[in-house]
Amino acid sequence: MAQIRIRNTGVRIEDEQEVLSFLNNQNVLYEHWDMSKLPVELKEKFVLSDEEKQQILATYDAEIKDLASRRGYQIWDVITLSEATPNLEELLQKFEAVHTHTEDEIRAITAGKGIFIIKGSEDVGYFDVELEAGDVISVPESTPHFFTLMDNRKIVAVRLFIEKEGWIATPFEDPEFVSSK
Ligand SMILES: [Fe+2]
Repeated sequence: MAQIRIRNTGVRIEDEQEVLSFLNNQNVLYEHWDMSKLPVELKEKFVLSDEEKQQILATYDAEIKDLASRRGYQIWDVITLSEATPNLEELLQKFEAVHTHTEDEIRAITAGKGIFIIKGSEDVGYFDVELEAGDVISVPESTPHFFTLMDNRKIVAVRLFIEKEGWIATPFEDPEFVSSK
């Protein structure tokens, strides 16, 4: 279950209903996939062959098709990040810059953890959404945000796109954003 931390106040939201209503108010799609469907050998595996990635997509085919039919996604894949990823440090440094996209950024976490840092409404400011396996989130188009790993530094996620060009990051210079946690 996702948890929220509001950066300006340090307030944490951990109650499921409160998390759902907070994200709903911020126009952030949040859903859940049943992780008991995932083959046990893939639950904690962060270096995946193409066959294993296909196996993840096949396991959640119905969920993916449902999202695609509701929201217009055309293509999907599986991304992994871990200490085994070449240049992980460099990649994370590149990720940790506030940006926007012309389409929404949707991720379904199937293993590990991650955080989206999102610019909320004026009264809220930036907030963190801490995600774990089973969490599905979509950062709305044109909403400033970035993604990073948590302390365990590993994640597997399904990504869905309307078209891959829509995912190009446009840097968003924001004096309101304070990078220190
Ligand atoms: Fe992004």
